[in-house]
Amino acid sequence: MNIAVIKEQFPGERRVALVPTAVASLVKEGHTVLIEQGAGAAAGFADADYEAAGGQLVDRDKAFAASCVLAVRLAGACGEYWAPDRARLSPATTLIGMADPLGCWQTSAEDAKTGATIFALELVPRITRAQSMDVLSSQANIAGYRAVLLGATALTKIVPMMTTAAGTIRPAKILILGAGVAGLQAIATAKRLGGQVLAYDVRPAVKEQVESLGAKFVELPLETASSETKGGYAKAMSEEFYQKQRELLGKVIAECDLVVTTALIPGKPAPILITHDMVSGMKPGSVIVDLAAERGGNCEATTPGETSVVEGVTILGPTNLPSEVATHTSQLYSRNVITFLQHLLSCGYPETDSDDEIYRETLVSRDGALVHSRVRERAGLPDLTKPEPTPAETPSSPQDSAAEGTSTS
Ligand code: NAI
Repeated sequence: MNIAVIKEQFPGERRVALVPTAVASLVKEGHTVLIEQGAGAAAGFADADYEAAGGQLVDRDKAFAASCVLAVRLAGACGEYWAPDRARLSPATTLIGMADPLGCWQTSAEDAKTGATIFALELVPRITRAQSMDVLSSQANIAGYRAVLLGATALTKIVPMMTTAAGTIRPAKILILGAGVAGLQAIATAKRLGGQVLAYDVRPAVKEQVESLGAKFVELPLETASSETKGGYAKAMSEEFYQKQRELLGKVIAECDLVVTTALIPGKPAPILITHDMVSGMKPGSVIVDLAAERGGNCEATTPGETSVVEGVTILGPTNLPSEVATHTSQLYSRNVITFLQHLLSCGYPETDSDDEIYRETLVSRDGALVHSRVRERAGLPDLTKPEPTPAETPSSPQDSAAEGTSTS
């Protein structure tokens, strides 16, 4: 195959889809690998490293002429910076990367019209055999680590207990809200720094994992038996539940020095766990790191992408922590991409489509149509697996008309 790696266009994005060692392994397997000049520079990989690995340096137009184009961010995940690249797509193009098709289905609908085949890596299902392809996990893990370091630096205290001739300093109290991938790594990092670590999650199943990392699980008297989906994700709960949760958490939060929030419901805005009033109840000098900032934030006072100080409490809303440590996150992303690519080939791609779960769940568009069932649902288009109720596919609202024409093939 002709595989190309493009240079990221989204502001502040420093990662690259393939690192030189990954290029070397693809070249060894007989593929041709094209690298857009400068693609790895921000992540610490020079053009010369790619050439030494067997890659061929090209400009952006040549990269997009390859049959398979790899990126960290493409389509919706690239925002307004994607439009010039859409003009480079053709039915011969396959794109693989993070595309945010559920959040930005309009972009996916426009891209589908070009006839390009698009695989969105955020949609890799969280199943055992797909673990090594799971970009959300590989990146969130590092984000959890980084969030604690940022929070620790913003504190007016140190984290570990210290006994000195000048007296004893008590360890900082750190609370992690949401103990998924990012949260568990945040707990581990906060423990390594010597903090007194507490954690809470709406899914009771994670209590054991939290405790195995040496943290204390915060038990709240809430009915959480039905809080988990079959896939292991949290379900959206009622507003009444969140209200009660906030009341109970308020007391715990008021005693903490650092709070890292990571609560997420897939495909939904982040649930509000910390209100303005709860921030006011915290001690001046305390810090909140809101990892859910990109999805609106778990804290009402968060401004995405910014640091604000509210009544003496510092609130950080980072939106792209993995990019800050791009050398390692690129290395992990690159491994995810290679494993994914190998999986596609084993499914018969590019000659045939496959009913394999990983293939099906990540394929967004093909042959001019949006084919992913959840993306189609967002776009108001009928499910392709069900018989059509009407002769023509009609988007459900005027706002959905951007998808028109992308649905039939
Ligand atoms: P995950 O799905 O593995 O974990 C989310 C956790 O939140 C789950 O354990 C879930 O049970 C829990 N949760 C949901 N509702 C809750 C509630 N009301 N109270 C307490 N816990 C609740 O997700 P992952 O991969 O760990 O990502 C966590 C967050 O970090 C996401 O919002 C993700 O978008 C974000 N993230 C942010 C980055 C950044 O740079 N800011 C980078 C990577 C991820």
